[in-house]
This record gives sequence, structure tokens and C-alpha cells, in this order.
Amino acid sequence: MKPPLILAIDTSCDETCAAVSYGRQILSNVISSQINIHAKYGGVVPHLAKRAHLEKIEFVVTEALKRSVLKGLKLRQQPEKNSKRTDLTGIDAVAVTVGPGLAPALEVGVNFAKNLAQKLNKPLIAVNHLEGHLLSCLANMTGTVPYIFPAIGLIVSGGHTELVLVKSIGHYQLLGQTLDDAAGEALDKLAKMLQLGYPGGPIIEELAKLGNPDAIKLPVPLQHSNDLNFSFSGLKTAAMYIIQKRNTPGVKDVHTPGVKSSEVKFVYDLCASFQQAIAKSLTTKLIFAIDHYYPASLLLGGGVLSNLYFRRQIRQSVNLPLYLPKNKKLFTDNAAMICIPAYYKFLKKDFVKDISTLDRQPNLNF
Ligand code: KG4
Ligand code: ZN
Repeated sequence: MKPPLILAIDTSCDETCAAVSYGRQILSNVISSQINIHAKYGGVVPHLAKRAHLEKIEFVVTEALKRSVLKGLKLRQQPEKNSKRTDLTGIDAVAVTVGPGLAPALEVGVNFAKNLAQKLNKPLIAVNHLEGHLLSCLANMTGTVPYIFPAIGLIVSGGHTELVLVKSIGHYQLLGQTLDDAAGEALDKLAKMLQLGYPGGPIIEELAKLGNPDAIKLPVPLQHSNDLNFSFSGLKTAAMYIIQKRNTPGVKDVHTPGVKSSEVKFVYDLCASFQQAIAKSLTTKLIFAIDHYYPASLLLGGGVLSNLYFRRQIRQSVNLPLYLPKNKKLFTDNAAMICIPAYYKFLKKDFVKDISTLDRQPNLNF
């Protein structure tokens, strides 16, 4: 059997995403970012996200199909005679993220996918966004998947920080999660307090390279809690008190001439110390999970783990094969990662039974 061509859509947060896959191979991965819309608010504004998704979705889907054509033909070398497999009617299934995410944002993708699947008379596959992050390391993996199970999955994003036991593809057990803020959310909030810009994670990663991670003492929450949960809001509050105590309202632009070098150094040190506290929390819990579940490998996913410092700290702390997304675009939100669970569901014919009743699930988890 030929691998299926799947068109996947994700509008769970602030990126309008569509991708086309051929088995596990990604033929196109189109992302329309809304960063410019939300940046001035320092976070995602749900109704603005919905409006932007509505404006962009048709274009993003069309672009994903267009870009997949060339690559798809190259991949199969010999185009099938009279093949229609690379235009819309050639798609074998439509997949869509149903949750978790912002309800108004999810709604746009779900409605679009439902209409499309019905119009084309193709099966519709409902995908959990978190399963997409979890399996994003399998995107573009060629040959047979190596023996990686049971695996521990670590998802660290703007909305989630979760440890998952992956018994096999499709069989998951949530081991622990954040009790309050996600790690990415804490990074975004620190950046907001320091007026550094949005999203905070990549900016903090750069500034932290210039700082001393031991300069500012910060708490590592739940380090000795004997469970696999995380908490980052106390860390954020500790940083807030430190910023307030210095009486520096924030450094607008750490490279602006005239800003005192001691203030700039403070920002670098705070970024580095904050990252170190998050890394300690992640690695402590990973080690705890490994000691309890003896996994064969670790699967990493989510925007925060595109950060090289976090990955280095994880690599140095655990002695297991690590599986990561193959490029930066596959870490942060995208629809290519949605193609992977969709592919495995397609093989099992796990399709939405009644398309008309499919609804978004903003609080979906494992
Ligand atoms: O996975 P993602 O794109 O969306 C969610 O599902 O939430 O993750 C977004 C989060 C944001 O909080 C952003 O600040 C963070 O990922 N992020 C990073 C980096 N790039 C994105 N955090 C740390 N270092 C980075 N390089
Ligand atoms: Zn995500």
C-alpha cells in the first residue's frame, strides 16, 4: 500500500498552520505567524487570533498543497499516470487539531477541516496537539522506526510542560504536568516584565548567553516533591520581586546607548539564572521519571526545547538516546507534527465517525 497523502491543519494558538505529508515524510509545512499582532500585548489575545486565522486559513492551506506538489513528485520519482494525488482531490485524508488550545482559535481550523473533508468526501482525522508535539521527532524519519519504546516524552511549550510515558504510538500515560504556568509562559512573562519583546523564549535564550547563571539565586520549584509535576509561577514571582527591588522598571532595549551597563548586566544575569532554574526543574523530573519507568529513549518536543541551552542540559543529565524534531520549525507550533499522529491513525482507520458533530476540545490532554 502506498503511504497516504494527508493534509493537516492546526490553528490551536497564534500560528495558522497547514502541512502535507506522504507517510512520515513532510512535503510542505506552511506557517503564518501572528506574532506581530500579539506582540504589543505581550501574549496571545484570543479574539484577535481567531480573526487572523479566519483571514489566513484558506491561503495557508492552498500554499501547503501547492508546495507539496513538486516535492511529492520528486519523492515518488515517477509520477503516477494521470495522478491527481498532489492536488486537493488527491489527498487521502484531512487531519485537524481539535485541542488543546484556545477555543476560538481551534474553532477556525476544525470548521475549515470539517467542510473540506465533507466537500472532498474524504476521511477526517482528529488530532491531539500534544500528541503532535510528542511525535514531532518522527517527522521525516526514513526507514523503520528504531526500537524506542517505552519512551519518556517531555513536551515543553507555551501552554504545556508535561511528562508522558509512551508505551507505543497511540498508548500514552500522563506522568506529570505543570500545576500552574508552563515553562514557556514563564519565559514570556519574564520577558514582558523586562520589556524585552514577545515571544520571550528566543530573546531570553540569546541574552542568557551573555549572563552568569549563578549570579541570581532563584527557586527551583517542586525539586523535592517526589512526583513528576512542575510549577513555574513561583519562579516568575521570585523574578518579579527581584526586578521590583532593584527599582528598575525594565530595560526597554538592552542594546540602547545610554542604558547603564549595570542594568544590562542585570538583565543578562537574570535571563541566565531564570533559564538555569527551569533547566534544573526539567532535568530533575526527567531523572526521576527515568529512575521509575526505565525507558529506552526520550522524545522531546515543544517550542521551548528548540532552546539549545535546555537541550544541552538535558543531554548532559541523561544517558539515553534522545529523539528530537529535525529542524526548528518542527519544535514550535506547526501542522507537519499533526501529520504524524494522523498518519498512524490513518493506518488504523481511526477516522471521525460523524464529521458534523466534531467539536473543538480546548482542554484535551493525554
Ligand atoms: O510549541 P509552541 O510554539 O506553542 C505552544 O504549543 O505553546 O511554544 C511556544 C513557546 C513560547 O512560550 C516561546 O517563548 C517558547 O515556546 N520558545 C522558546 C524558544 N522558542 C520558542 N523558549 C525558549 N527558547 C527558545 N529558543
Ligand atoms: Zn504547541
